[in-house]
Amino acid sequence: MTENSSESTRLVQLEQQANLRRSIETTISERFAPEDEGLRHALAAGEEAGLPPIQISPIQGRFLQLLAAACNARKILEIGALAGYSGIWLARSLPEGGRLITLEVNPAHAEVVRNSFAHAGVADRTEVRVGKALDLLPGLESEAPFDLVFIDADKSPYPQYLEAALRLARPGSIIVADNCIRGGRVFQPSEDEGNNGVAEYNRRIASDPRLISLLLPMDEDYTDGFAVSVVRYS
Ligand code: SAH
Ligand code: DHB
Ligand code: MG
Repeated sequence: MTENSSESTRLVQLEQQANLRRSIETTISERFAPEDEGLRHALAAGEEAGLPPIQISPIQGRFLQLLAAACNARKILEIGALAGYSGIWLARSLPEGGRLITLEVNPAHAEVVRNSFAHAGVADRTEVRVGKALDLLPGLESEAPFDLVFIDADKSPYPQYLEAALRLARPGSIIVADNCIRGGRVFQPSEDEGNNGVAEYNRRIASDPRLISLLLPMDEDYTDGFAVSVVRYS
């Protein structure tokens, strides 16, 4: 009886904590990262086209803008566009004359992205390139340096995406990768190629002397999030 009631007290406490975290997240989103019609349209268009709802959160979008401001980003590269939601956040961080290039393997996704960008008023400063990122990345070297690179495509080539990002970066560039925690699964031995790719990515950014890096849990329930790396000046 006592044990049961202390267990239910504990459950109530856990539920209160979860509600508190949700309400804090909602308040931060409302105050710092409100979505406008353009962003909401991209979400609806993705849903309409049957794309999975795996875009970043509004807080993550705002954080990308903060990082873009920190490195004075005029040229941004995104790997993995989906419906254009993160691309809109990124494109809106650009100054006059700035440019976002986003790479997307799925032509149907790319079509949604172009519509989303047009609807959000960022078509003029964005370009969607269709193909496998690993095929497209070498062709970007003539357009380097990129001030910010956002990696959010298939997970097993994350280490190769990091190599490419480093080739395309300058000192002070910021490299961000999504889904680098994955509920802690990337810290466990795994048979999953995606997990292993992200685990290797994390090992490299933690030890590469060219970078200063950190994993930040920052999805809705703080079990997944960004890896953020700054390319050092020396
Ligand atoms: N950044 C988006 C979410 C991207 S989801 C947002 O937050 O709004 C991952 C996207 O990467 C999908 O659209 C998928 O089609 C694309 N993708 C998967 N493998 C890819 C590859 N090898 N090259 C380029 N894009 C790829
Ligand atoms: C998946 C991919 C993502 O980029 C993401 O943010 C969430 C989920 C996925 O492939 O399941
Ligand atoms: Mg992602």
